[in-house]
Amino acid sequence: MLRSVILAASRSTRVERLVATAPFTRDVVRRFVAGEGTDDALRATRELVADGLTVTLDNLGEDVVTAEQAAATRDEYRTLLGVLRAAGLTPAAEVSVKLSALGQRVDEQLAYDNAKAVCVAAQEAGTTVTLDMEDHTTTDSTLDILARLREDHPSTGAVLQAYLRRTESDCRDLATAGSRVRLCKGAYKEPESVAYQAARDVDKSYVRCLNILMAGDGYPMLATHDPRMIAIGEDRARWFDRGPDRFEFQMLYGIRPEEQARLVAEGHTVRTYLPYGQDWYGYLMRRLAERPANLAFFGRALASK
Ligand code: FDA
Repeated sequence: MLRSVILAASRSTRVERLVATAPFTRDVVRRFVAGEGTDDALRATRELVADGLTVTLDNLGEDVVTAEQAAATRDEYRTLLGVLRAAGLTPAAEVSVKLSALGQRVDEQLAYDNAKAVCVAAQEAGTTVTLDMEDHTTTDSTLDILARLREDHPSTGAVLQAYLRRTESDCRDLATAGSRVRLCKGAYKEPESVAYQAARDVDKSYVRCLNILMAGDGYPMLATHDPRMIAIGEDRARWFDRGPDRFEFQMLYGIRPEEQARLVAEGHTVRTYLPYGQDWYGYLMRRLAERPANLAFFGRALASK
């Protein structure tokens, strides 16, 4: 119920204005987002890499409605990739892109062209791109664009969401040599017709999908903070003899940093998903919807003002 309310608020411009202008917001945002500019992203990436982590950077933004906005996002990614390369932070750092921020809702070909330009820049910088997955109405389009991008840039990665009923089948299709798949539970409000609703069913689907990816020939990226899913991932890595160059764990910036450090110390590859940029509202609201403890953090920041 609470999750539904927050996810509904994540789409409200009125609530967005209220949250964005509230005095406590800055502290809350800072926990989950590196900052607003490329410099902030670079500084946070340096710190994470120095701690033995790898990084994927997300320039925050979604639901772009004009070709000009989409081009601006594309150019920000190209600038970022150049900066990361110049700082010697590739290939430890790669980028994650939302196709909606590259114009997917304006025109699929436009999103493909922009994503292709980002892939070219990533290749020049010696690193990779992973396509984030948004709500289920975009899944087919995103996987079609992924297939086209992989013709010239085979290391382009995809995100699959375990809460979707279709995802086991998508995992089977993508568990092939050279394919990089980030498996997460899923963060959007989806109807019962396409998505499991009970947390237990989502978890069971996550394990089935994890098994398919770990048994397959691709490169699994297990994106979760869930201790049970992480333990199962560690177990399957031993079973399938997958070392740190054959799969990785991924977590969001600011969430369970001590667990990220523990996994690094155990010898695993761990990638932190690092968002930055001005358009942080939708991202922040999805994080708050995921976990009541995050809301308590929000409340504490409010109370301290
Ligand atoms: P869940 O939220 O079910 O939590 C399970 C358990 O994990 C909790 O009970 C607790 O023990 C622990 N836990 C979780 N959060 C914690 C916290 N803040 N502090 C301490 N313990 C905590 N989604 C999407 O739809 N499209 C996408 O492209 C992506 N991309 C993406 C990339 C990466 C790298 C990650 C990690 C996640 C995504 N997501 C995503 C988000 C994802 O779908 C999901 O919403 C969140 O990761 C939360 O799910 P968990 O698997 O962490 O478990």
